[in-house]
Amino acid sequence: MSSTTQVQMLLDKPRGSAVAPGYQPKVLLDNKTRNVETMVVAVEVASSSAAPSLPASVGGEDRPIAVGGQGDYIRLSDGRQILDACGGAAVTCLGHGNQEVIEAMAIQASQLSYAAHGFFDNNSRRDLAEWFKATSQGHFRKAWVTNSALGGHLTRRAPFEPLLLPGVYRIPPCNEYRQRLQDESDEEFVLRKVSELEKAFLALGPETVTAFIAEPVVGAASGCVPAVPGYFQAMKAVCDKYGALLILDEVMSGMGRTGTLHAWEQEGIVPDIQAVGKALAGGYQPVSAILAGDKVSGLMDSKGVTFTHGHTYQDHPLGCATALKVQQIIQRDGLLANVQTQGARLEKLLKGKLSSHPHVGNIRGRGLFWGIELVKNKANKEPFDARLQISHQIHATALAAPYNMAIYYGQGCAGEKRGDHVMLMPAYNSTPETIELMVDTLASVVEKVFADSTVLSNL
Ligand SMILES: Cc1ncc(COP(=O)(O)O)c(C=O)c1O
Repeated sequence: MSSTTQVQMLLDKPRGSAVAPGYQPKVLLDNKTRNVETMVVAVEVASSSAAPSLPASVGGEDRPIAVGGQGDYIRLSDGRQILDACGGAAVTCLGHGNQEVIEAMAIQASQLSYAAHGFFDNNSRRDLAEWFKATSQGHFRKAWVTNSALGGHLTRRAPFEPLLLPGVYRIPPCNEYRQRLQDESDEEFVLRKVSELEKAFLALGPETVTAFIAEPVVGAASGCVPAVPGYFQAMKAVCDKYGALLILDEVMSGMGRTGTLHAWEQEGIVPDIQAVGKALAGGYQPVSAILAGDKVSGLMDSKGVTFTHGHTYQDHPLGCATALKVQQIIQRDGLLANVQTQGARLEKLLKGKLSSHPHVGNIRGRGLFWGIELVKNKANKEPFDARLQISHQIHATALAAPYNMAIYYGQGCAGEKRGDHVMLMPAYNSTPETIELMVDTLASVVEKVFADSTVLSNL
């Protein structure tokens, strides 16, 4: 059987409903834009005459050079120590320079650094796959370990759109701050979301829709936006009704970031397929994984097919050994409990120190995954003009002396590339003192940026 046929079977409707041969499988995504691409927009805007003058451009040659990392700090070539309050894009979960992880890497590298996945299996991959199975009560019976993941970021996809798989359709995301009507209850709001998904299924032809994909807590696209209670149960019910898979993108929100190993554990559902990455190996190796639940693995087993869609570095022994070590440390040291405790502290401090600021519209998140949405007008939630690049200015100010702190930032949380957000995503082993320092520093940075009169008049 060709690999195309095998992939097609994976994409096929799990209930095996009758569809015309040669049909184009469709996928539904909730409509959000993650922010990394806005960084590209930022560079373009910064070079136009109408743009505000900005500090060091993102991704440019003028970025500071990182030369070392220890604990919560990244050392720069100019000698500055940067407090890492976001772990890059929520990657670093054990801090930098963890000796146990480094030793495990060295041992693996000295035993077997690479064995082409197409010809060989390896014990590190098997151990990691077993760990995924054991920690999901047997649900994730199959894991494919890769280096990169699924992404739905609109702006990032845009330049490649003509080359990408057709058949991806978007529905509005679940964003309470931006969408909930006055006096609308959770239940009513969820019903509205259900009807959006139902409408999409019906418009596309339910028998042709393979899957609905969403992030349990939307990360870079919107700034740590959790769904309202009941949303995922209701969406899963719609998927079940039409025989479509529920695929969760937990690349950013997963592997403990929200206080449980998987973010869906707080939603009362299990996904059919899940993508994880970032905190999986905490940045010590570039590792991501696709996890298949009962329905998909069962179908594959019953049809005797394997997933042979290969990447050169798939199942990489060093990556797998590193990921397993990182996860074992999180488990052994009870760090998920610390994510919950420090997460509650972070929420309290952020709300206490920032929510009364006239330009802080909303503070939301879960675990050690918190976003702050900045608005021009708090009363009507009007976002800033995107060209002001407020979130970038906050990031750049924070990164510069005397603040010396890395925070994540993005635009697009208010839709149509508008809306600024910044994100704090500390390591899972953060102490109360570090959390306090991060919030105090962010509060000072926000004060400073808005106190600068050129910031708002710089168009
Ligand atoms: C939620 C989410 N999904 C997918 C991706 C893509 O992951 P990668 O950049 O490793 O391919 C990202 C990256 O930021 C992400 O945040």
